[in-house]
Amino acid sequence: MITRESDARAAAVIRANMESVGLPGGRLITGTVSRVLARRPGAEPPFDLAVADPPYAAWDDEVTGMLPALADGGWLAPAALVAVERASRSAPRAGLLATPRTGTAGTVKLPSGTVTPQASVRRRKDGMDVHRVACPGSFDPVTNGHLDIITRAALLHDEVIVVVGANLAKQGLFTVDERVDMLEEVTRDLPNVTIATFRGLLVDFCRAHGVSAIVKGLRAVSDFEYEMEMAQMNYRLAEIETLFMTANPLYSFLRSSLVKEIARYGGDVTSLVPVTVEKRLRAKLASMPPRDGGS
Ligand code: PNS
Repeated sequence: MITRESDARAAAVIRANMESVGLPGGRLITGTVSRVLARRPGAEPPFDLAVADPPYAAWDDEVTGMLPALADGGWLAPAALVAVERASRSAPRAGLLATPRTGTAGTVKLPSGTVTPQASVRRRKDGMDVHRVACPGSFDPVTNGHLDIITRAALLHDEVIVVVGANLAKQGLFTVDERVDMLEEVTRDLPNVTIATFRGLLVDFCRAHGVSAIVKGLRAVSDFEYEMEMAQMNYRLAEIETLFMTANPLYSFLRSSLVKEIARYGGDVTSLVPVTVEKRLRAKLASMPPRDGGS
């Protein structure tokens, strides 16, 4: 067990708890997590279970850095389980945890799973390569068009990380946590799809998470110039490739901003977004003060 616990009394309680539940081979390592992980496990056998208790405000930088360090630094036995304590009100953000599970006890949530290895193309035991791609976007909210691209990307690639990023040019309706929740709900049946968030540059996320390519949907010629610019810039910045998938013609006119506008004026969006998104959209708009719709 690795804990960031620097308080000696708290560490003693954790140690006593470990003894009382009789964890065979259980070890408690205290200290700043990044420093502990940087020194590598040495001759100690790898852990079957790691429990992390980072500050609840942290996830993106601290936890997404910790999980690869655990996996790549030789700390974990094959198929080791990692659990990361969170506040129960926060989104699970199981981005780097493969086959994620979440248990809740009181005010604490415990997402757990195995850690996804970080190499962009890793070789499986059967000799096959595993390719991980990212589907980035604002997803405010996720539409049937997004879901179509995510589903098709998941059929073509071994692992797909759907990443919610901030488009500085857009004013969001849903919080990032709400967008993540909706994406998790609508991709529940896609086992090789995980959801994550990023701040800053997309290419930095891709590098940190072993992503070999970005997958984006192209709806119409109007998308092309903007997407082409971003694709070329991302390649220039970090040699990350972008793969374009043409949108299903059923959704070529579909944009989150149009969906929000139609819903705001009481229009029917049931054929444009998944059912759960439509419900959340209605609830969100109902909770907001009415906007001046005058002529
Ligand atoms: O759904 P959107 O609005 O088209 O998503 C755009 C997003 C968030 C993927 C894009 O704005 C982005 O990648 N932002 C992160 C900042 C960044 O990397 N900018 C440089 C792009 S060349």
